[in-house]
Amino acid sequence: MKIFGKIKNMSTDLKEKQPNESVNINNKATLEYQGQKLELPVVTGTENEQAIDISKLRAETGLITLDNGYVNTGSCQSAITFIDGEKGILRYRGIDIEELAERSNFVEVAYLLIYGKLPSKEELEQFSTGLTNHSLLHEDMIHFFAGYPSTAHPMAILSSMTGSLAAYYNDNPQEQTEESLNLDLIRLLSKLRTIACFSYKKSIGQPLIYPNNKLSYCSNIMSMMFAVPTEEYYIDDEIVKVMNQLLILHADHEQNCSTSTVRMVQSSGASIYACMSAGISALWGPLHGGANQAVLEMLKQIHDSGMNYKDFLKEVKDKKSKIRLMGFGHRVYKNFDPRAKILRKACDRVLDKLGVSDPLLEIAKGLEEEALKDPYFVERKLYPNVDFYSGIIYSALGIPVDMFTVMFALGRLPGWLAHWKEQYNFDKKKICRPRQVYTGASLNPYIPLRDR
Ligand code: CMC
Repeated sequence: MKIFGKIKNMSTDLKEKQPNESVNINNKATLEYQGQKLELPVVTGTENEQAIDISKLRAETGLITLDNGYVNTGSCQSAITFIDGEKGILRYRGIDIEELAERSNFVEVAYLLIYGKLPSKEELEQFSTGLTNHSLLHEDMIHFFAGYPSTAHPMAILSSMTGSLAAYYNDNPQEQTEESLNLDLIRLLSKLRTIACFSYKKSIGQPLIYPNNKLSYCSNIMSMMFAVPTEEYYIDDEIVKVMNQLLILHADHEQNCSTSTVRMVQSSGASIYACMSAGISALWGPLHGGANQAVLEMLKQIHDSGMNYKDFLKEVKDKKSKIRLMGFGHRVYKNFDPRAKILRKACDRVLDKLGVSDPLLEIAKGLEEEALKDPYFVERKLYPNVDFYSGIIYSALGIPVDMFTVMFALGRLPGWLAHWKEQYNFDKKKICRPRQVYTGASLNPYIPLRDR
């Protein structure tokens, strides 16, 4: 029997098909170096993508591979998310992102990613009830918020508070049961939302609004961020829908920087809370999740300076300027990011619904139009990514700029948890430990301080 807090008979199963069960390794590649030939297995995934398995290369030849930024390195086999960057395809557990964004909701997608299948009605109810029952923080943790300066970035708070959860739910990672692991997944999904909203309330000096068990996952986010104890708070269905869409679109993206970080930290056997805290820190950078904040700052800068966006693009193309068009380009997508397409439509819908006319949206559309016909961007296959329009929607919802990356983190959490779980259960898992080509000094004698 598995228990999610008070809910019994939850039919989720932590064990799932091993990610390497459905791959084909019949093909071989031959590597020839200095007269030595080595046959290497070629692994073929379910969508026919192929990889040369070099795990025995060093043992047999003394050579390693070198791949700065892991541009061409497959770090694992995974059955969670499929991306075809050339065709602009993104699927979670085989289901197209467009269909999920239109027809599903964030809680259901979280279940799909973590447990590998769409839940039955009963499973979804139990999962949702688990999230409802675990939304509160230990009251001692409320005091933590008072310790941060009012200028603290909410990502700093989210990352450190998430790590601190390990102090309250201190299960030995080596002695987890299926039941305790399921509970950790639920706690993280539910409590991180509360931490994120509380950190916002603290930053603006308003009283904390506790989660409300009558509200859905996304309605609770809006309520905890924007309600005040003195007034009724009305939540619009259209706003809840777009919040669900934003979180769904961010929910997983295979081996991106933060997810790879989560898997790497997990490989050492660290607590799941430490792994998620590490993922949040990795996400924070402007080339990753921090890009949504950087996009809005860029648009605002163009607007406030009165600069023509065509002149801004000239600066971007001038390599000496070191300016990038934030929200453009992607390591994997060399075609439209399907998430950006969905968000562009959602952006028009939400601004229309809220009656907001945002000059930054006009600048963003202008930049996109110009960039998509400019040879610099065309030749490099640079298209708008998920972050190009998300910030404009968050702004329209009243979410402040420094909370954007926090929203991304809440969205990405099910993906991190799914990858954490997949790796945790992998029969042949190993500690992640890349090698290097050393380029430093050769053997040097130690010189005592007095002789230097
Ligand atoms: N603006 C201008 N030039 C760019 C951009 C950009 N946004 N992105 C890439 N380039 C150029 C880059 O200068 C390089 O040109 P060259 O060949 O002349 O040296 C070429 O395109 C290839 O770029 P790269 O940096 O080698 O590509 P990468 O795969 O290492 O980087 C990236 C991917 C997302 C970090 C990069 O495109 C970028 O910095 N984009 C802006 C930041 C951004 O929007 N990040 C969010 C990514 S989506 C959310 C997420 O998954 O986290």
